[in-house]
Amino acid sequence: MLILQTSTSLSDTLRHRRQQLAKLIDFPAILWSGSNNPRNFLANTFPFRANSHFLYFAGLPLPKAAIRLEAGKLELFIDDPSPSSVLWHGETPTREEIAEKIGADVAGPMAELESWLEDAATLAVQDAATWTQQSQLLNRWVLPQSPPQGIDLELAKAIISLRLTHDDGALTELRKAAAVTVKAHKAGMAATPQAKLEAEVRAAMEGVIIAHNMTTSYNSIVTVRSEVLHNEQYHHSLQPGDLLLADVGAETQTGWAGDVTRTWPVSGKFSSTQRDIYNVVLAAHDACIAKIQPGVEYEDIHLLAATAIAEGLVELGIFQGNPQDLVEMDAHALFFPHGIGHLLGLDVHDMEDLGDLAGYEEGRERSDRFGLSYLRLNRPLRPGMLVTIEPGFYQVPAILNDVNVRSKYQSVVNWQRLSEFADVRGIRIEDDVLVTTEGSEVLTAALPNDADTVENLVNG
Ligand code: GLY
Ligand code: MN
Ligand code: MN
Repeated sequence: MLILQTSTSLSDTLRHRRQQLAKLIDFPAILWSGSNNPRNFLANTFPFRANSHFLYFAGLPLPKAAIRLEAGKLELFIDDPSPSSVLWHGETPTREEIAEKIGADVAGPMAELESWLEDAATLAVQDAATWTQQSQLLNRWVLPQSPPQGIDLELAKAIISLRLTHDDGALTELRKAAAVTVKAHKAGMAATPQAKLEAEVRAAMEGVIIAHNMTTSYNSIVTVRSEVLHNEQYHHSLQPGDLLLADVGAETQTGWAGDVTRTWPVSGKFSSTQRDIYNVVLAAHDACIAKIQPGVEYEDIHLLAATAIAEGLVELGIFQGNPQDLVEMDAHALFFPHGIGHLLGLDVHDMEDLGDLAGYEEGRERSDRFGLSYLRLNRPLRPGMLVTIEPGFYQVPAILNDVNVRSKYQSVVNWQRLSEFADVRGIRIEDDVLVTTEGSEVLTAALPNDADTVENLVNG
């Protein structure tokens, strides 16, 4: 268990959150933190990450713990460290000390939880040991990646309505995550001229995050093979004509995430074709951010990005036709197959453990259109929401070489012209944008994204 430096207002933040929850549900909720799973023997574990719903109300990443929330009260269930654990892990806080730090009203060992299960709702934790325990204790299936039912569904909706917009405690942490994420990207750019492998740039970026006693909020993507959208390999060598795409985010000790992508030339100079496409993606990125304000539909932001990309590609002669018509026929998805972004908070793709319950406004369902099916957020924006804006352009062989796709879009793509852009495998530009009452604030704005400044950062 970690001894954490926490702000004095942690317990106030947590009290406010559970009081808000109490206004939305009239039954108890029990949230488990999850287990630290062994790799081979019990003491050699995979890194522990507490469940985000637990973290939201408990504030600390406590393994093998549970909290019970009822009518604004917080009860903590956790076992005290065993006497032998002092030998291996040193002195760790007692249950009473933890309870005081988070403002718990009552604290007891895990075994006591069994007397408090009646009529309680819960949400599934990802690790098998925990969701099995949840299912056994509550005597019903509590499964990750399956929609919650009954009171669990009511609890999910209540928590979503709280977590959709961020309070001051959350924003303090999210700003810290954003600041370290920005530093990591600058370090990655600066390390590129000396690096021979993707892995060396990754090390420079993650080194900054680790040095701030943070972790990564998802598996880093640092690749010259950027046509693979979530490429998690780092063995490729860096060649002077390559673009390097880095999608790397920091996560604070209490679990709040950053999520940023930049794409830069390994040589420190974009080729003219790379710069042309980069500027198309950047124009889409900037247009989306300029549009963000309360009440705007996130789907419209996505369609704005799609239209901006279509426009840019028409100007470059890659597409032929009217940009609006191209978007209506989903032609943008040939090169921009993903959604414009997602919610960000305690998780990257915040609350997607609940499927589309958080991302989609009640009554809306995901479209199966080629150009909309990866849209992860479909709600009107509200002050306090944090979203990513991450348009991209990729030449994905599995899309562009698909015979059916090629024949459908044969007449709108100038394939000959496209072949002149072979040195652009993929470009994505991603920032974290807070919706404010006036419009928006880019939490990651300290990281430049215009082509000239990116070149300068790589060149030191
Ligand atoms: N880092 C994953 C994403 O941007 O969605
Ligand atoms: Mn993202
Ligand atoms: Mn990302």
